Amino acid sequence: MALYTRVSGSVGVITLQNPPVNALSAAVRQGIVDMMDRALSEPEVKSVVICGQNGKFCGGADIKEFGTNMSGPALIPLIDRIESAAKPVVAAIEGIALGGGLELALGCHYRIAHSKAKLGLPEVSLGLLPGAGGTQRLPRLISIPAALELITTGRHVTAAEALQLGIVDKVTDRNTLDEAVKFALSVAGKSLDLHRISTNPCPHPPDVDAVFETAMQRVRQRARGALAPVACVQAVRAAATLPYAHGMERERELFKGLFTSGQARALQYYFFAQRAVGRWSTPGGARWDTSKPRPVRRAAVIGLGTMGRGITVALAQAGLSVVAVETNEKQLTEAKQGVSDMLERGARRRGVPPALDKVIYSHKIQAVADVDLVIEAVFEDMELKKAIFQQLSALCKPGTFLCTNTSGLDIDELAAQTQNPELVVGMHFFAPAHVMKLLEVVYGQKSSPQAVATAMQIGSKIGKVSVAVGNCRGFVGNRILKPYLEQAFFLLEEGATPELVDKVLEEFGFAMGVFRMSDLSGLDVGWRVRKAIGLVAPEALTGPYARVREGHRYSPLGDLLCEQVRFGQKTGRGWYQYDKPGGRVAKPDPWLHRFLEEYRAQHGLVARRIDHQEVLDRCLYALINEGFRILEDGIAAGPEDIDVIYVLGYGWPQHRGGPMFYAGMVGLNKVLERLEHYHQVHPDVPNLQPCSLLRKLVASGSPPINKWREVIKKPHSQL
Ligand code: 3HC
Ligand code: NAI
Repeated sequence: MALYTRVSGSVGVITLQNPPVNALSAAVRQGIVDMMDRALSEPEVKSVVICGQNGKFCGGADIKEFGTNMSGPALIPLIDRIESAAKPVVAAIEGIALGGGLELALGCHYRIAHSKAKLGLPEVSLGLLPGAGGTQRLPRLISIPAALELITTGRHVTAAEALQLGIVDKVTDRNTLDEAVKFALSVAGKSLDLHRISTNPCPHPPDVDAVFETAMQRVRQRARGALAPVACVQAVRAAATLPYAHGMERERELFKGLFTSGQARALQYYFFAQRAVGRWSTPGGARWDTSKPRPVRRAAVIGLGTMGRGITVALAQAGLSVVAVETNEKQLTEAKQGVSDMLERGARRRGVPPALDKVIYSHKIQAVADVDLVIEAVFEDMELKKAIFQQLSALCKPGTFLCTNTSGLDIDELAAQTQNPELVVGMHFFAPAHVMKLLEVVYGQKSSPQAVATAMQIGSKIGKVSVAVGNCRGFVGNRILKPYLEQAFFLLEEGATPELVDKVLEEFGFAMGVFRMSDLSGLDVGWRVRKAIGLVAPEALTGPYARVREGHRYSPLGDLLCEQVRFGQKTGRGWYQYDKPGGRVAKPDPWLHRFLEEYRAQHGLVARRIDHQEVLDRCLYALINEGFRILEDGIAAGPEDIDVIYVLGYGWPQHRGGPMFYAGMVGLNKVLERLEHYHQVHPDVPNLQPCSLLRKLVASGSPPINKWREVIKKPHSQL
């Protein structure tokens, strides 16, 4: 777990060995303690280098140990022991020095980094703070404002930035260990007084109170209720105001509070969930480790509207050649400009040349004949998409994967238009497609494992977290959204306002309340879909059937707003008002409040006072109930898939893990009991009827979320 060698006669080299990221497990910590003892006791050894095996210094504390009975030596005294050593200790940083890994390096007297290394204290994203002295040593080394920024955001920095900030002493392009050994030889015997960071004073900005006040305000605004960023600021403040030993006590106290919090559990669950979705499987038995993707060098995008432009940018930025097709000349001209602007902006941000030459534009679909994969992104119109899939099937070279960015249409119906339905999959991006991290890869009845694997691989290549999901209306994300939206509309009918509902959801931690989100994405999108499936007949907008569809409660509120061309931000009016079409600042709209009153009067509805808890219960539990249905139907392989989709695509607060994790935290029996209650009050709302998987889980004693799959076990169709 830590290997000891002696090189150049007098340098003791300690190599951390714990693949894949040399996390500081109990065995690694013990190894470091033992090997340090050895290095310090051997008289021939004049200096020490600590490095990591396989080109990675250290990924920090072993997160898998959290929540277990942690044994082995503690990290803080271990780092203190390194710092107080009488022989110089040099950290040779390759690959990564993150969290406890960087804290270990900060305990060393010198740090040499390879130019490709990344360094950071990302504990905040796990619901923690750097709890092995990082909050006390980093500000002493690089100043309070710089340390605050790194610790509260968890941002990774490049070696070059680390050098500029003063985190490392030297950056090299050569063999890092060789350079570190040379450096260790050169500093042997020299005074270490200035290099024991904990003994240095913390540099004080003159306006220290103002610095912390501003940092706290910024953090609270961004945190959406997350505890860790706030605790990070408090811990750094201790570095600025207390002697080191007392600062460490404060760090320990704050760390302890976070370590046992539900938020830390949620964020650590989410860390592993994001990785678990990569190990996808389908009900038919296709799996990530047995399905080989096919290389894709040239791709095509059809339809250069909002989504097609973003998808083109994402593909080109990842180095793929893209044929971008748009039949409308005006749109094509605008798209060329739009895509180029986005590519240039992205390139400026990343300091690379823009990939303008990667994109070829055409107004003819025939231009796609030679590509390996096509992503269709035309209007959400089944007949149009069907015609395009027929054309593509006839036009493309054999073996071309045909993908659709539909938000929820039937993949099998589209696949049926082609000669090779096994080549068809959904690639459901989220707007803006070059920014949002989520991709739903939707497999149909006939999609081949290779088609799924290829779409998943393209997703990773363009920097997305890809989640494989089954085919049903709305797939996972939009299917779950429906009952959530529906409850929000019903709450308006019963007396709530958009402001109340949004406030409750935003206080819960959503990036945006349901109505503000609806205004942003456009009310007309759902309206067109509802029209297409016959839910919005003009004669059903008023009168006794306005609020009933197929015997169930229905709210036409969204449809009525669309009739008034209140599509949200784009028209300057929606659930809120904006100063102009395209405006972003939502203001309460007296018109809407009057409209709701008239609507209630017209339908004999009496407004009642609705409390925050009811808003939260009904919106969230309806959403969670649909999540259980999705698991029951085998549309998602596990709860992690739903949670990752909801956090990355729908603004669910990360520190609450995702809707399915949240259900487990609240208690499945409580979710069941609340759903039963609300379904009794609203028997005409089937979405509130608890689904049988939820009942089954509760009857099985509400097992922890990692055991749900055992209860779900359901035979499925083929792939
Ligand atoms: N502990 C345990 N396992 C870890 C780990 C860690 N710190 N970091 C990564 N892993 C595991 C991952 O779960 C994954 O396992 P899997 O193959 O079984 O899914 C495997 O290592 C590889 O990880 P990635 O797939 O994420 O590989 P990448 O190369 O894409 O990324 C990474 C590597 C940048 C190191 C990324 O894994 C990462 O960000 N890790 C977390 C780093 C971190 O947050 N460290 C702080 C820990 S808390 C701490 O140190 C507390 C201290 O202050 C006291
Ligand atoms: P859009 O209306 O902005 O763009 C569609 C484009 O397709 C238009 O430029 C149109 O001229 C073009 N087009 C129409 N017929 C064509 C043809 N035969 N050949 C080539 N181009 C053609 O639509 P948007 O919003 O980009 O949506 C596209 C698809 O993506 C839809 O299926 C939608 O459901 C889906 N989607 C949309 C999201 C959004 O937030 N807008 C999010 C996720 C998916």
